[in-house]
Amino acid sequence: MAEDLQIAQGSKAEAYQSLIPQIKGLLDGEPDLIANLANVAAALKEQFGWLWVGFYLVKPQLPLSKSPQTFGKFDSEDGRNETEAATELVLGPFQGPVACTRIRKGRGVCGTSWAEAKTLIVPDVEAFPGHIACSSLSRSEIVVPIIYNGKVVAVLDADSAELDSYDKIDQQYLEEIVKLILF
Ligand code: SME
Repeated sequence: MAEDLQIAQGSKAEAYQSLIPQIKGLLDGEPDLIANLANVAAALKEQFGWLWVGFYLVKPQLPLSKSPQTFGKFDSEDGRNETEAATELVLGPFQGPVACTRIRKGRGVCGTSWAEAKTLIVPDVEAFPGHIACSSLSRSEIVVPIIYNGKVVAVLDADSAELDSYDKIDQQYLEEIVKLILF
């Protein structure tokens, strides 16, 4: 892949239709997940100019955590068993302002999308109970779960500085894009 991304100027659907084959080209022949997540985040940022776009990955708690009590805290607060509680979302490749690094299952838009295994469109982040404000500039958001073998393994998160930026068109095409990453 030596060419620059071609940026479409038409409707949102046309922009996605132009972007998707280019994303396929970027991913083709590259098996490294982090490299592919990084390029997908960059391609979406370049096409749409959103405030923030990137990935959070479901990861096991690091064994060398600075807070060894974390497991206990998870258990008492969340009432889940240790195996479930020992996973959380950890920041992955992204484009945009610095962001929160860890999100628990069920927390914020990302943690809720993970817990419910479904795409969430939030037209006004201030109206979403428990929204995690990584940037005070974020006004609307979409989170798309990435599901592999029936389990959420990561989420794609996009944030806009404008209200009501995301709709069913974004949902349809972003769900298509995240499938390209895994297969
Ligand atoms: N707003 C998200 C947190 C991630 S940042 O927006 C990058 C949430 O509520 O889960």
